[in-house]
Amino acid sequence: MAVLLTGGLGYIGSHTAVELLNSGEEIIILDNLSNCKREVADKIREITNKDFKLYIADLLNRADIEKIFEDNSISEVIHFAGLKAVGESCEKPLEYYHNNITGTLILLETMRKYGCNKIVFSSSATVYGNPKTVPITEDFPLSTTNPYGTTKLFIEQILQDTVKAYPEWSCINLRYFNPVGAHSSGKIGEDPNGIPNNLMPYINLVAAGKLDHLNVFGNDYDTKDGTGVRDYIHVVDLSLAHLKALEKLRNMQGIEVYNIGTGEGYSVLDIVHAFEKANDLTIKYEIAPRRVGDIATCYADATKAKVELGWKATKSLEDMCKDAWNYTKNNIK
Ligand code: WQD
Repeated sequence: MAVLLTGGLGYIGSHTAVELLNSGEEIIILDNLSNCKREVADKIREITNKDFKLYIADLLNRADIEKIFEDNSISEVIHFAGLKAVGESCEKPLEYYHNNITGTLILLETMRKYGCNKIVFSSSATVYGNPKTVPITEDFPLSTTNPYGTTKLFIEQILQDTVKAYPEWSCINLRYFNPVGAHSSGKIGEDPNGIPNNLMPYINLVAAGKLDHLNVFGNDYDTKDGTGVRDYIHVVDLSLAHLKALEKLRNMQGIEVYNIGTGEGYSVLDIVHAFEKANDLTIKYEIAPRRVGDIATCYADATKAKVELGWKATKSLEDMCKDAWNYTKNNIK
């Protein structure tokens, strides 16, 4: 029996693939290569010294997905695949809804057809919208501010309804906060196309001399230094949360949701300074206007994951900054 990872060559999928293989799981990766490179598969094999089946296929292609379930014995699915750029989702909402929602529906229908009824879904803290207070617990009200976030919320709802209708199903939604960092080998990491939107990849390209300076989006928020506060989580810690979720999934029925963050908030300037200190570099930055749609502060209460999954983040901000830069400097072209 194998665990199917949709989007398994992407940033979070590839790190989770490594941890699953290291823990002795059999995995199958499905990816359409829309935001990653095929070579990531070789890197996963190099790091783990283990092999797995790889399907280059798209969730929107039902025949391809059915063939994967037909030819393999899939016990659980971890569903990472999806378009994820907030800004782009506002420009191309129909593409985002079609890809993320229709893709998920085809996946769920195929799972149902082949009797696979266990799924871990990559959700996001974005489903909390602009929270009234912090830290955020899983029972906070849900709302979104962009089509990308809405696809995450809709998929959570689709999964709720599915599990409610089919009692033999079980599902865990993991709400990720801000994943950063890379595998300590420096072989896999975050590799966004074009100019990055997210803070950590942007800082890395400034450090590498590919971008002149970081624009700090606003220094007049109601935070300790006026810049936005987020809960940054090391991608390896995040990957390990999937292993715990899988363990839980195998022994439960129904649906659960967990915040996956450290529970600590760091400002943009905290990140800049931590990156400089960890890597002995200087990051040039300028204060720029606020970015539309940004919120002041967002960080998790991750107690539920600790109590129910036995998971807790262990890596420090220094680890996140060091590992991110180690990956960038080894891979920058
Ligand atoms: C972090 C902080 C920015 C870039 C987004 C999505 C979310 C999730 C992760 C993904 C903010 C500031 C950033 C820059 C800056 N999804 N910043 N200059 O916005 O918290 O979350 O990514 O799949 O759904 O919304 O992350 O890294 O973009 O920003 O000052 O060049 O850094 O204003 O305070 P965010 P981020």
